[in-house]
Amino acid sequence: MQIDSPLIEVTDLVHTFGDRTVLNDISFNVRRGETLVIMGVSGCGKSTLLRHMIGSMRPTSGSVKIFGEDIATMKEHEIIRVRCRFGMLFQSGALLASLTVGENVSLPLLQHTDKSVDEVEEIVKQKLQMVGLTGFENLKPAEISGGMKKRVGLARALALDPELLFSDEPTSGLDPIMTAVVDELTLKLTRGRGMTAVVVTHDMTSAFRIGTRMIMLGGGGIVAQGTPDEIRTSSNPEVQQFIKGEADGPMPLNLFQEEHEDHPHVKPRPCVVARGRFHRKTT
Ligand SMILES: Nc1ncnc2c1ncn2[C@@H]1O[C@H](COP(=O)(O)OP(=O)(O)O)[C@@H](O)[C@H]1O
Ligand SMILES: [Mg+2]
Repeated sequence: MQIDSPLIEVTDLVHTFGDRTVLNDISFNVRRGETLVIMGVSGCGKSTLLRHMIGSMRPTSGSVKIFGEDIATMKEHEIIRVRCRFGMLFQSGALLASLTVGENVSLPLLQHTDKSVDEVEEIVKQKLQMVGLTGFENLKPAEISGGMKKRVGLARALALDPELLFSDEPTSGLDPIMTAVVDELTLKLTRGRGMTAVVVTHDMTSAFRIGTRMIMLGGGGIVAQGTPDEIRTSSNPEVQQFIKGEADGPMPLNLFQEEHEDHPHVKPRPCVVARGRFHRKTT
């Protein structure tokens, strides 16, 4: 792989759930050193797109190359090798509830390196310090707040010092100050250390703070892409509606029943069905 070739190349990517096409012919590249922000309304396919980039979902058609290799056709053991080169911060944090904060962060080190226990402990300490969680090693995920869980997830994603970081909604559910802290950390890693990042977010303050390039998804395709300045000054009314967070505009608000008809996997059902599950047996 040449030094200046893209780290990720998504070409003609299509993904269909049942008869519903969520990603329709998506193509773009991620270049080394940039922070690509992927944005768009809830349900437009951002997480699905990210899952293709990390090889946890296979395309219906098209290809996804990462570090020059097609992840869509790789075998599981090859994907594991590639995964050691990137970190992933999941939308929910995805911590293992039965393990402590420290153990969660140590997992990638235990799985993918042969470092000694002392070395692992030292790295865990360092990563937790980086996200401002020194001293929380021995707590369980249930004992810390949502924002702290996200930061533990970030410490774990950074455990192997990846050259590439994927984050899915890293700041959703965080207060504005914690959002700024997480953004500052991302900036320190990207602008400061040359890490490449792909960040899915619908938090516009955060997007404009960290992004060097932006892609907006909508209707299965790419509505707009460009530098933060190009997006900010875009003449596309959908883009303006989204970045300004306006209810009125060209983007339809699916608050009604038709939304369900578009989602064959979300079958409306009478609430009374749930009653049986919560009914307390008296006999
Ligand atoms: N495993 C799945 N099976 C069926 N439909 C799915 C699945 N995952 C996501 N979807 C649907 O695909 C669409 C895009 O979902 P997602 O990528 O999670 O959106 P976003 O992250 O932009 O909110 C949604 O309508 C969602 O319901
Ligand atoms: Mg999502």
